[in-house]
Amino acid sequence: MEYVDLRSDTVTKPTPEMREAMAEAEVGDDVYGDDPTVNRLEEIAAEMLGKQSALFVPSGTMGNLIALLVHCQRGDEVIVGNKSHIYLNEAGGMSALGGIQPCPVQNQSDGTLAPNDILESIRSEDVHHPITKLICLENTQNICGGVPLTSDYTRQVGDLAHSNNLSLHIDGARIFNSAAAQDVSVKELVEPADSVMFCLSKGLASPIGSMVVGTSKFIARARHIRKMLGGGMRQVGVVAAAGIISLEKMTKRLGEDHARAKKMADGLRQIRGLIVDAGSPSTNMVYINISEDVQMNAGQISERIKKLGVLVDAENTHRFRLVTHYIVDDDAVEKAITAFGEVLN
Ligand SMILES: Cc1ncc(COP(=O)(O)O)c(C=O)c1O
Repeated sequence: MEYVDLRSDTVTKPTPEMREAMAEAEVGDDVYGDDPTVNRLEEIAAEMLGKQSALFVPSGTMGNLIALLVHCQRGDEVIVGNKSHIYLNEAGGMSALGGIQPCPVQNQSDGTLAPNDILESIRSEDVHHPITKLICLENTQNICGGVPLTSDYTRQVGDLAHSNNLSLHIDGARIFNSAAAQDVSVKELVEPADSVMFCLSKGLASPIGSMVVGTSKFIARARHIRKMLGGGMRQVGVVAAAGIISLEKMTKRLGEDHARAKKMADGLRQIRGLIVDAGSPSTNMVYINISEDVQMNAGQISERIKKLGVLVDAENTHRFRLVTHYIVDDDAVEKAITAFGEVLN
């Protein structure tokens, strides 16, 4: 059966144009800096994000970890959202591999960290305290609903960080979704940040890869740490070729995914037993709760929906996340709405 796969935008497969570019990519040994396709990808990424330099890394998790290891020493503390990917879903890498301690601050429902909460979490100079070094924001904030953070808010946190001698890192796994949803440039969204990680392998459809951007000095150190973590890659232009298409082409079509997510949410709102989050979706993610009178839990519903050819991710016993991406067309949206309707009615 051909499935409509709404579990994540990480399920995207490379486009035909990407496969062609990958087959024809000029390559070299990237650890020597000899891969022209990687070099071009890094130049394009730095330019699009408005930073001096960029580094191609195998995954978003490694990109975030590298950034944290550049910003912090062992024993330092990082202010992170309590619903952030870095805090919840990166296997505790900052602590296990960097000796860095997370200081979780509550994510508000709009994905932000309240500036006052951040201020109160900054450690004072005291022999007992770890040293606060970094604030991390996530844009779009995944668990809060795929919600975009604004450039005004990011500037406010950037000012707060810099006036307290801290740095600001953005986990921008889906920063291009954020920019598309707000009709602003990615450059503007990340201008206050000292470093940014973003992913090519989610809605931008590359098979592998993320980028870390920052100053040239920061990226030189990041390159060293990438090697230390075993992330130095060789003829990786075969993958970077897809990344270039992600940046030059796929970033321009994300609005379509957002429109389809909205269409899907509108359809699902009509189905008794489903409660789509108020205001959802902001980007390509639709979060839905199951109402209390429904006799099935999310796992049972997703099993039944699978039999109708639709894959969805049960976040917990009563909540789903549905994610649109370029493989999900209008028919797929209709198929998903119909499947939910059949299972719940
Ligand atoms: C917000 C966010 N940050 C970071 C990552 C990590 O990316 P990767 O799966 O490439 O390690 C993800 C993955 O889904 C994510 O959603």
